[in-house]
Amino acid sequence: MFNSLIDKLRKNQILSYDEYLLLIKNRDKCADYLFKNASEVRESIYGNKIYIRGLIEFTNYCKNNCYYCGIRRDNKCTDRYRLSPDEIIGCADYGYELGFRTFVLQGGEDPYYTDDILCDIVRKLKENHPDCAVTLSLGERSFDSYKALKDAGADRYLLRHETSDSGHYGKLHPDDMSFQNRLDCLENLKKLGYHVGAGFMVGSPFQTEENLANELLFLKKLNPHMVGIGPFIAHKDTPFFDQPSGTAELTLFMLGLIRLTLPNILLPATTALGTIDPLGREKGIRAGANVVMPNLSPLNVRKKYMLYDNKICTGDEAAQCIECLKRRIATTGCEIEISRGDYRQSKPNC
Ligand code: SAM
Ligand code: FES
Repeated sequence: MFNSLIDKLRKNQILSYDEYLLLIKNRDKCADYLFKNASEVRESIYGNKIYIRGLIEFTNYCKNNCYYCGIRRDNKCTDRYRLSPDEIIGCADYGYELGFRTFVLQGGEDPYYTDDILCDIVRKLKENHPDCAVTLSLGERSFDSYKALKDAGADRYLLRHETSDSGHYGKLHPDDMSFQNRLDCLENLKKLGYHVGAGFMVGSPFQTEENLANELLFLKKLNPHMVGIGPFIAHKDTPFFDQPSGTAELTLFMLGLIRLTLPNILLPATTALGTIDPLGREKGIRAGANVVMPNLSPLNVRKKYMLYDNKICTGDEAAQCIECLKRRIATTGCEIEISRGDYRQSKPNC
């Protein structure tokens, strides 16, 4: 019964809300079958190649106050930092030598970085490394700002929607943040021709299995190029300090469902998954993920970009991280590919 629903997804047929919910509620009975199918589908499109993105966490200042996030405005315990344009470009140059061909510039929503400053950085990155893709993850900005950054050469944009339920959104964010604006931003990014990434935390406070079933329908409709999901992990200096964290088990199941729902998706095995389970990223790849995002930020700021407690990979040089990841990925039968790692349009041939 459950396996036949997975077969249906595998044949690229659409599942209903009730069918997704049934699978999520009975995941203990069909997880292995899901993972087998999800990794076969990934393999039929991307082979055994795992794409790497060099993550540059360039500011931990944020004007927002999301209840779950360790770098929220009201967290007075955070030691704030900003990287200069030269430091950011230096990280990318070093990353290029290590084999990265995509750089992800991520930060809190920090008004210090105006469009002019950011566009200069993007232009310089593209000038220095024309064979590389630039991904931005800077939160909500105006249409004009997204356009200026696209015109400067940015290729992709990650903006997790966090939840597709406006009531749930209101429980995760203060009143000055708007669910509708988040959706409008995603639409604007699509209109401008970015490759767009959406996503959410698994096990975020107040999230239900019903919410998760709806996330799959939302993603199917949005049809993004990338989906970033990872477990919610409490941060001690946030309003959600005592909320239970999400589990690796449910995150992996959702990764598998996302791979079958959107076969061509670029799907990271996230740092949060590796934090909640020491083998989380390897398990993520076995569940259908095909991207990892090692940290290229300078060592002296790593521990300051603490979105949640006990975040891994804050003590190692980028070169060590990539060596460690190569070894870990090899255990899954996959290997890192040195390329931009673009979205592939091809149909699964299985
Ligand atoms: N400011 C940008 C934005 O809002 O998209 C990028 C940075 S934001 C910190 C990146 C992502 O981290 C968020 O979209 C959220 O899903 C995730 N995140 C924040 N706090 C987290 C937590 N406590 N546990 C797991 N993930 C978290
Ligand atoms: Fe910075 Fe949520 S706290 S975007």
